[in-house]
Amino acid sequence: TSAEKGGWPSFMAKEVAEEPDAVANTIRGRVRDGAVVIPELDGSDDLFRGVDRIIITACGTASYAGMVGKYALEQWARVPVDVELAHEFRYRDPVIGENTLVVSISQSGETMDTLMAVKYARERGARTLSICNTQGATIPRESDAVVYTHAGPEVAVASTKAFVAQITALLLLGLHAGRVRGTLSAADGAAAVAELDALPAKIAEVLAEEQAHVTQLAGWMADTRSVLFLGRHVGYPIALEGALKLKEISYIHAEGFAAGELKHGPIALIEPGQPVFVLVPSPRHSALLHAKVVSNIQEIRARGARVIVIAEEGDAAVLPFADEVIRIPLAGALFEPLLAVVPLQIFAMALATAKGLDVDQPRNLAKSVTVE
Ligand code: G6P
Repeated sequence: TSAEKGGWPSFMAKEVAEEPDAVANTIRGRVRDGAVVIPELDGSDDLFRGVDRIIITACGTASYAGMVGKYALEQWARVPVDVELAHEFRYRDPVIGENTLVVSISQSGETMDTLMAVKYARERGARTLSICNTQGATIPRESDAVVYTHAGPEVAVASTKAFVAQITALLLLGLHAGRVRGTLSAADGAAAVAELDALPAKIAEVLAEEQAHVTQLAGWMADTRSVLFLGRHVGYPIALEGALKLKEISYIHAEGFAAGELKHGPIALIEPGQPVFVLVPSPRHSALLHAKVVSNIQEIRARGARVIVIAEEGDAAVLPFADEVIRIPLAGALFEPLLAVVPLQIFAMALATAKGLDVDQPRNLAKSVTVE
């Protein structure tokens, strides 16, 4: 009903607006003396000590959060991490055992594919931890431990605030595990906590500064038939998520690619007028990666692509080659995805709205898929 939407035109619009709170509420109570301590994992240090491999398993948007989580867990907890779609994972005799930690991610906690992957992992002796947004759902009940995201109930089929909360929980998990395993210095942990604490205000800033711009852009592009998304490092899963959002609610063909893969195939898709979103990593984190992505932009621009860049404030190197520039505030490398995804969510929502579609209830999709 319109009352439940609190004045917003759709649940999706309301839920995007709630993203700063979703992140803040997921962090709350999980920082002690400048370090991440997740109270639910008190007494569960065994989950992380002696683990030689982590498998993150999920479906859809949650799997893209998992891909960001892989970078964080490997950097801070120094364990090899693989991300596996739940429905692929259990049908191929994976190498898992008691030293494997299987981390499942599910907003609903009821996705059958993910649930079956968790049960499969448990039967084979793996340790299981669930990241879930729904208290008491089936997947957390079937897991050894649970870290809840506190995004609040998500109604729109296309996941938005739950996604940023999932990434937040994975960053917290990486910092917690790094501390327990002794692989994260106190100084690095404290710097990461400062980054986390600054996120809600930065997300609010993206909403305040870019919502109107991105909405206008989507309006101009309502007749677009195909949109490509390029990203690198943690920008890669965000490119995949940007494409998924567009498919889900605006029914436009969309693909996300790792920017480094462009020359190995996708560049053949570029023709004059093809819209391409490019997520540009901060030059402060890696001048090399930044230069490589700027060179990707030049390559597609030379072939006529319409380039829409998402880059941090002050990055002037992108200006000569971009048709549109969407700005995000400065953040640490692993924290940027939480900012960069916001304009992509708004874009999909605004484009679907411009096409007159129901953004909350897209055709053929269910909020939670409880069959295999
Ligand atoms: C469905 C939804 C997606 C969601 C996926 C995983 O396919 O339409 O938006 O990402 O399920 O859902 P979960 O509840 O497990 O996160």
